[in-house]
Amino acid sequence: MKKIFKFFFLSNISLSLIVGVFGCARGAQTEPAPSENQGTETTEGTDATTAPAEKIKIKFSHVVAETTPKGQAAKMFEELAEKYTNGKVDVEIFPNTQLYNDDDVLIAIQENNVQIAAPATSKISKLFPEWQVFDLPFAFSDPSQVQSAMEGKVGQQLLGLLEQKNILGLGMWDNGFKQMSSKESQLIKPEDFKGQSFRVMSSKLLEAQFKAVDANPTPMPFSEVYSALEQGVINGQENTLSNIYSKKFHEVQKYMTLSDHGYLGYAVITNKEFWNGLPDDVRQALEKAMNETTQWVRDNAERLNAEELEKIKAENPKLEIHELTVEEKKAWMDKMDVTYDLLREDLKTSGSTIGDQLIDAIIELRGE
Ligand code: LMR
Repeated sequence: MKKIFKFFFLSNISLSLIVGVFGCARGAQTEPAPSENQGTETTEGTDATTAPAEKIKIKFSHVVAETTPKGQAAKMFEELAEKYTNGKVDVEIFPNTQLYNDDDVLIAIQENNVQIAAPATSKISKLFPEWQVFDLPFAFSDPSQVQSAMEGKVGQQLLGLLEQKNILGLGMWDNGFKQMSSKESQLIKPEDFKGQSFRVMSSKLLEAQFKAVDANPTPMPFSEVYSALEQGVINGQENTLSNIYSKKFHEVQKYMTLSDHGYLGYAVITNKEFWNGLPDDVRQALEKAMNETTQWVRDNAERLNAEELEKIKAENPKLEIHELTVEEKKAWMDKMDVTYDLLREDLKTSGSTIGDQLIDAIIELRGE
């Protein structure tokens, strides 16, 4: 992570406009302050030398529960950010899609209606298709491999793309491996998927993954998955154990397969102008808070997901849970591997110049 941070922070520092302490946090508040001065010094009519400066407001929007790795990390960032800036910023977290779903949040960030978000990497592929590389099935067999990709050239190149759309990547956070579930049948052999419909995040690669096993992918926001499963609009879904547990998907599913077939991680993003316009001391304090939070989520996400598995078992003992064997995994891989070539083609068609490099780097990490 350190390398990425160095890369972004150095470019941030060089771009920063150093104005007064709070004078340049452009658009830091989406709701006007009482004085209508967005992020400026004092309230109208007060003595500028004695009146306390207004806090810089940072809205952090996400879609998951507060108990999940991302939910807990957001809280931790809030606490550390306020502490390290000596209360100069006020971070407000909006969990559970209270403000935006992860597709809309990409626009909200570009327009500085929220200042921080952490959408799943899959969802960023709507803006930059290169981000689909993190969705490649069975690309990673261990969280440390994902972290190498996030911290290395792959992460650096992907985060770098965001600047074209006035977005700055502050880092990448872990959730964990995705597992499959269904109401219809066990999912052990690739043939078991045939004809079933599965919710996917908005990523063409995830759609291709399900088509490769003759299933029907249905893109849908996270907030709609529970009722779609309950009402039978879809048969199944894929997600991490912490997301499955916190949104009670296990209550409306009969079968779950511990498949670890894909990884769910996040890009923590901000509005580039907003961030570069922050006073240096505030930005540095926020970077420190972000670095520490990233390290915490790296160290704890796997444990949090493992704990949720036990809770799922306790709360729905009827859920049939199957852990894929090595041979069964191989059969899934044989079918789903087609997505690697499809992605190469897709990235070529979309004019990407780094598609092959990214896919090759992921394959190398996979050890092939
Ligand atoms: C999903 O939509 O399933 C996930 O992106 C939710 C999340 O942010 O973990």
